[in-house]
Amino acid sequence: MTEITRDVVIVGAGAAGLTAANELKKAGLSVAVLEARDRVGGRLWTDVIEGAMLEIGGQWISPDQTALIETVDELGLETFSRYREGDSVYVGPDGAAHRFQGEMFPVAPETEAEIARVTDLLDEMVAGIDPDRPWAHPQAAEWDAISWDAWLREQSDDDEAVRNLAFATGSAMLTKPTHAISLLESLLMAASAGSYSHLVDADFILDKRVVGGLQQVPLLLAERLGDDVFLNQPVRTLEWSDEGVTVTSDGMTVRARRAILALAPVLYSRISFVPALPRLQHQMHQHLSMGFVIKVHAVYETPFWREKGLSGTAFSPYELSHEAYDNSNHGDERGTLVGFVSDLNADGVFALSAQERKERILTSLSHYYGPEALDPVVYYESDWGSEEWTRGAYAASFDLGGLSRYGAYLREAVGPIHVACSDMAGAGYQHVDGAIRMGRLVASQILETRAEDGSGS
Ligand code: FDA
Repeated sequence: MTEITRDVVIVGAGAAGLTAANELKKAGLSVAVLEARDRVGGRLWTDVIEGAMLEIGGQWISPDQTALIETVDELGLETFSRYREGDSVYVGPDGAAHRFQGEMFPVAPETEAEIARVTDLLDEMVAGIDPDRPWAHPQAAEWDAISWDAWLREQSDDDEAVRNLAFATGSAMLTKPTHAISLLESLLMAASAGSYSHLVDADFILDKRVVGGLQQVPLLLAERLGDDVFLNQPVRTLEWSDEGVTVTSDGMTVRARRAILALAPVLYSRISFVPALPRLQHQMHQHLSMGFVIKVHAVYETPFWREKGLSGTAFSPYELSHEAYDNSNHGDERGTLVGFVSDLNADGVFALSAQERKERILTSLSHYYGPEALDPVVYYESDWGSEEWTRGAYAASFDLGGLSRYGAYLREAVGPIHVACSDMAGAGYQHVDGAIRMGRLVASQILETRAEDGSGS
């Protein structure tokens, strides 16, 4: 058992933990990052599967994600734009593929008018929400007591309009059934991206990717920390008092003045805290749960859809894969499609055999792109639900009423135990940008206590 002493011990080598560790080290504090897995990056994972480079976790960067953009620039990484020339495809209730351009789906004029009317209303409501303090809005408790689905159904009788409005924050973002998330959670999701209109604009929200993969961000951040990152060290116990912390993993004990929990908050209960965390934390953490989405990768000899004048961008609230995109790698002659299967649909296909699931998902993709989609040369499903150290995708959100009840306390330290994760971010909520923002915030909080701690050089 290795025993070491540091100023700060960080649990988790994802974007949040590695950002915090780098900020603290730059300021002269000594750090140790303990990571449960045999790799860094957490929900950022770029891997080669059967010869194809795939972004198994997070990959896209939008223009408002300035913390991530600064980090990518500072690390010297190159970005490229998602392919977007040609028509998008929408599959409506008739089951037919309709081509369109721009942001509005090709629906009947009355449905289009309903979508536009409710979008304006949502943009107005979102403008009044501070993503860092959604619970402070005067109507927060009221908006947190109604489900996203129920609220939308109160706004419009047009089922197709409601389904299209619902999935932007539902299946596509929070990845939970729309009856299981509150209106306030939906507004936070939209506010974290600047507006509801931003979320439905694929060209905005899914703008850029990093050449060679987004996992390079945590890999390069870890490289700067050198021997201070310890892999295969799942933290089991955290003893704490006013004097500091003692953190024990499978192979190490780290004594430090402070700890940062930089893991998804749904996993805090995997650690034994001695003494136990206070009542508020015990309650609050039980009201958070992970969303659930399968990210499906299908690689073809060529991007055949481009020859048909299709951009690869496809949506349908009626399809198993409710959205799909051209995800071809930079400079790669092969074509890659990425599709997403969320919440109840994901439950449904995981009840099938792997072969049946693949057939069902590829059939759904073929409804957008034609029969060529049925025969990829590489097929892979990112299944984060079965990952012990994540347990879902993309991130965690509160149950109905939880955000207004507990949100204000989620980022608060308990004694020497601090927290940072994308799942508690305001701007960049549930995204890498939010993880970096939370990593920076927790580092600045710890640096403020430096005189009191007498830590660092
Ligand atoms: P993260 O979960 O990454 O890191 C926590 C770390 O703690 C992990 O490495 C874990 O192994 C470790 N850990 C857990 N328990 C531990 C213990 N007991 N001891 C030690 N270590 C422990 N975002 C985006 O900006 N653009 C996108 O396109 C996407 N798309 C996307 C797709 C998919 C499929 C996923 C799963 C996620 C995304 N995201 C995304 C979200 C984004 O990837 C995510 O928000 C951040 O990477 C989270 O970073 P954190 O550091 O906060 O947590």
